[in-house]
Amino acid sequence: MDFAELVRSRRTVHNYSAQSVPREAVQSALELSLWAPNHKLSYPWIYTWVGPRARAELAVLAVLLKSEKGPLNEVKAKAIQDSMMNPAHLIALAIQKSNPHREHEDYATLSCSVQIASMDLWAKGVGTKWSTGGAWMHQKTYEILGLDPALVRLEGGLIIGVPLGIPAAPERPPLAKFIKETT
Ligand SMILES: Cc1cc2nc3c(=O)[nH]c(=O)nc-3n(C[C@H](O)[C@H](O)[C@H](O)COP(=O)(O)O)c2cc1C
Repeated sequence: MDFAELVRSRRTVHNYSAQSVPREAVQSALELSLWAPNHKLSYPWIYTWVGPRARAELAVLAVLLKSEKGPLNEVKAKAIQDSMMNPAHLIALAIQKSNPHREHEDYATLSCSVQIASMDLWAKGVGTKWSTGGAWMHQKTYEILGLDPALVRLEGGLIIGVPLGIPAAPERPPLAKFIKETT
């Protein structure tokens, strides 16, 4: 697959089988992700590999948060739990806290890194989803993951696993819509 085809074919995957993905595949994707541009070489990444205890606690929190928004039947609750328990790997994404300008640039670096890791995994047939929803940004999640909110800013989770299905590509508007030209 050439580069453009790889980029266009990648989809955010929402449903995962319980199939495993070798840890080394994720490790090498994360290593590659550190080649993202990184202004002032601040090395902002804090990748937290979410283990089984933390996963189970995040699943409980995610169900609780959803139930606070409205009634939740067993099927929906199970689907939320599965979304935390099924994927082969979960990596919490965070950057170091510094000052607003630095954090803005560090978030850009993190975004570049996440895309590099996602593309690397996609090329190996592994799906990903960057999620900022549910429990991923919650205060309690810092506790569950052992992160100090005074030092670290959580930016979501990278969900990694074997896709159960690949969603249709959402439309990308034409480039002309986003381009301006000055004299
Ligand atoms: C910073 C960021 C946060 C995201 N958070 C979520 C999320 O919480 N839930 C979700 O379903 N998708 C999330 N996504 C994925 C986007 O919704 C997805 O990229 C978009 O729908 C386009 O689909 P595609 O990636 O398949 O092209 C997030 C993407 C980014 C970059």
